[in-house]
Amino acid sequence: MTTLAHSAITKSIATAENKLFFKQWLKSPLQLGTFAPISMKLANLTAHQLIINSDTTIVEIGAGTGRLTRALLAKGANIEKLAMVELAPKMCLFLKDSLQQLYAPNTELKIITGDACNLGKIIPHHWLGKVDYVVSAIPLLNLSEEIRKKIIQAALDVLNPVTGSIVHVSYSPVSPIKFMECEILQKRAASIWGNVPPGFVWRFIPKRYLHDLSA
Ligand SMILES: C[S@@+](CC[C@H](N)C(=O)[O-])C[C@H]1O[C@@H](n2cnc3c(N)ncnc32)[C@H](O)[C@@H]1O
Repeated sequence: MTTLAHSAITKSIATAENKLFFKQWLKSPLQLGTFAPISMKLANLTAHQLIINSDTTIVEIGAGTGRLTRALLAKGANIEKLAMVELAPKMCLFLKDSLQQLYAPNTELKIITGDACNLGKIIPHHWLGKVDYVVSAIPLLNLSEEIRKKIIQAALDVLNPVTGSIVHVSYSPVSPIKFMECEILQKRAASIWGNVPPGFVWRFIPKRYLHDLSA
């Protein structure tokens, strides 16, 4: 595909995804968190927090219409090593159709319609303990602390126990899991105050891994 054709497809996907996102937000504002997908600038900044090669295994939770997904792929993520988890079936369909426009029709896509609380049960079984990054755009602050903890714990449980970490994009300068400070190192890795709304990329690393490394 020529670069020109590729960028025309990307543009038409962006227009259609804005419409679908807004419609879904009217139906489930808390689940979506905002009325529009992540800005391209924030998506690219988030993708740049990952060190990616063709073997990097990534699970994206709250993939939505795929704007962050496309930034991860542009950064070099291998589509065969990327699972996309999304609660809303309509978003999953959009994700599938749009990625099929960008990739060869026979490309196997790991799009999983499901709840990030059950991550260990819904991603490929042989990935358990081998995931390098869980990338999250789930609006955690809209959820109870109990559910936030469930989602983060489910993500920790699938990560590679030595190298794995969670990259979370949020519209809050305060960590959405501050109450888990005893167990998880929480670092604000990047900020765009000029984004609308201001956007922040968080890196969560379980402290037990750090203890294991220093032992
Ligand atoms: C702020 S949107 C982010 C969408 C997309 N990643 C983007 O780049 O614009 C959050 C997404 O998380 C999804 N979501 C919320 N709770 C979820 C859960 N428990 N499991 C999976 N997806 C969830 C929503 O349906 C929504 O598509």
